[in-house]
Amino acid sequence: MNKILLLGPPGAGKGTQADIICKFLKIPKISTGDMLRSAIASGSELGKKVTDIMNSGRLVSDQIIIELILDRIAQPDCEKGYLFDGGIRTVGQADLCVENNIEFTHVIEIKVDDEVIIDRMSGRRVHPGSGRNYHLIFQPPKNEGVDDITGEALIQREDDMPETVKHRLQVYQDETKPLVTYYQSQTSKSSLKYIAVDGSQSVEKVFEDIEQNF
Ligand code: AP5
Repeated sequence: MNKILLLGPPGAGKGTQADIICKFLKIPKISTGDMLRSAIASGSELGKKVTDIMNSGRLVSDQIIIELILDRIAQPDCEKGYLFDGGIRTVGQADLCVENNIEFTHVIEIKVDDEVIIDRMSGRRVHPGSGRNYHLIFQPPKNEGVDDITGEALIQREDDMPETVKHRLQVYQDETKPLVTYYQSQTSKSSLKYIAVDGSQSVEKVFEDIEQNF
């Protein structure tokens, strides 16, 4: 059974590769980012609590995240495996996963330099209903401004403004990057497979590298 965690800075292409891998392996994608954005869109209590945090590029608390994950993973479609699209962002969250018996068979790190990321984020457009990602230049929709599947309007994410992206990159360095060592060190004492790929290549080539090393 495949239980996958994608790691990488904001804009590395986690969401893009997650959609391809999930389709290929027929497993569900678990995106804490999408779940939190849906909570904001629905106006729920959770949404109100996280709006300012997300819009400013900070991380939501470990406790909120683990509750979201436990709720999602208990659903029947996760019985045959799952893929976390960047859902674990701190060592605290990784430890909470261990405490709650949430395991990974593969950790896939997508590496991309900061300059490439800033370019990518300014051109990203998203379909809010599904979380499908596009890019004005690198991955444009078939028809300008609308989702390929539903025809609904695409939006620019609030946290994709250049200053917020810079802050998110710093948060990644401080809070999430330690997970690289955390998971790499586990490969010697468990069956966990750690795969690192160069995310600055084309979408197709990144997936090809993941597939070859899987
Ligand atoms: P989240 O939604 O998870 O955002 P993120 O990790 O910052 O990642 P992104 O979605 O911005 O980028 P991505 O790596 O998925 O790249 P994408 O494929 O879209 O989280 C948002 C916020 O929620 C966080 O800041 C935090 O506040 C909160 N949160 C979520 N989870 C949390 C947790 N566990 N703990 C605490 N807080 C949490 O690609 C980007 C663009 O590049 C797209 O336009 C795409 O088309 C393009 N692109 C992709 N690949 C390529 C390529 N190879 N070549 C050219 N263009 C490409």
